[in-house]
Amino acid sequence: MTNTDPADASTGRFTRQDIALAWRLLRGGKPDAAELDRLAANSANIEQLRRNLVGQAGGKLHSVFQETVQQRFLKAPPPQVEVDVPPEVLDALLAHVENVWRGFGESDPFWSVLTKFKPAGAEVDKATFYATGKKRVEKFDAALARAGVDSASLKTCLELGSGVGRLTLWLADRFEHVIAADISSSHLALAEGELGARGKTNVTYLRVASMAELAEAPPFDAFFSIISLQHSPPPVIKHVLSILLGRLSPGGVGYFQLPTLIPEQSFDAKAYLADLSPHEQMETFAVPQKVLFALFDELGLKVLEVREDNQCGPNKLSNTFLVHKPQR
Ligand SMILES: C[S@@+](CC[C@H](N)C(=O)[O-])C[C@H]1O[C@@H](n2cnc3c(N)ncnc32)[C@H](O)[C@@H]1O
Repeated sequence: MTNTDPADASTGRFTRQDIALAWRLLRGGKPDAAELDRLAANSANIEQLRRNLVGQAGGKLHSVFQETVQQRFLKAPPPQVEVDVPPEVLDALLAHVENVWRGFGESDPFWSVLTKFKPAGAEVDKATFYATGKKRVEKFDAALARAGVDSASLKTCLELGSGVGRLTLWLADRFEHVIAADISSSHLALAEGELGARGKTNVTYLRVASMAELAEAPPFDAFFSIISLQHSPPPVIKHVLSILLGRLSPGGVGYFQLPTLIPEQSFDAKAYLADLSPHEQMETFAVPQKVLFALFDELGLKVLEVREDNQCGPNKLSNTFLVHKPQR
């Protein structure tokens, strides 16, 4: 680094050498030329450089700086997020999500589940891809154990947004029966082929692309959903949770991840549907905790645990919930 901190210097910017060194220190390796240019243009002081380097690095690096980031969440204003809309608006939002995700399943299925896996056409190391699910499902075991839930009493699990079966594979070893539910028929077809090839015969597949299909979901003892609900607009998330958590058998549990605060984000269904072209991509939405807690009350669910899970990087507050439906 140069001796002068550009945060205090009137000359401002970092040299490319400074940035490459900071990158090496924080992230290991070195950035490519385009990345260096982008960072040089967008990092006027050390705090911005640090945020830029850490913000895109993912995983462990985020948590090192989480203390700074948490302050933003503590100071966030009331969210302007519409969650209650008429049925025809819900239909239109669901149809849009179905269209986008079915498209991803046809073009880039593995990338659409974990973006670090390369787009269609490139070779995907499926053994590595499917192995990534193990630890996430072990966290589910850990949450159940912390809450004193007897997991042997949970026979059937519905996984919402099962994708290509990355987590389903591991759930199938824990439950007698797993219902892999997804809005995208292309993901479901791929999951069925991959899990079939791995000898998982206790999984059934359910498309949930409309209010009618959701309403047909059978009852189950465990509801599980990771990095899936977040890709639907807030009214869809609320509706899906309300229908599916409402299907939990007495004594059952719901374990799911969802961003609950994205400070700059607002959602207005009419404005969103007025022009869908900017939304033909992978989007991430939050549903405020206030809405979720009201829903749990309405459905008679007890909250056993809410954990910040750092699932969506430093700028989105993501939580993993464990809720319980008491015996009648
Ligand atoms: C990022 S992938 C994650 C898949 C899987 N949960 C995993 O972690 O391997 C998101 C999945 O959620 C599905 N999805 C998105 N919105 C959904 C919704 N409203 N209902 C059901 N599935 C949905 C997508 O089709 C996709 O398969």
